[in-house]
Amino acid sequence: MRIDRCLCVGVTFEALKKQADAASCSTVEELRCVAEFGTGCGLCRPYVREMLRTGETVFDRIITEVEDA
Ligand code: FES
Repeated sequence: MRIDRCLCVGVTFEALKKQADAASCSTVEELRCVAEFGTGCGLCRPYVREMLRTGETVFDRIITEVEDA
């Protein structure tokens, strides 16, 4: 299993990380002001949160909002 993007919008976490770095975003909410993602099913949001925390852009594990809370 390889999870590396918001499937609903079709944007990779790598691309989102570049936008987050360029705009100095440290939260999902800040990143949503400058990048389009997470507007469909929302399943990518905990991955984006983890990406902002760790710098990872490819995940081989399931991350849910419950685990993330
Ligand atoms: S995968 Fe990002 S909103 Fe559905």
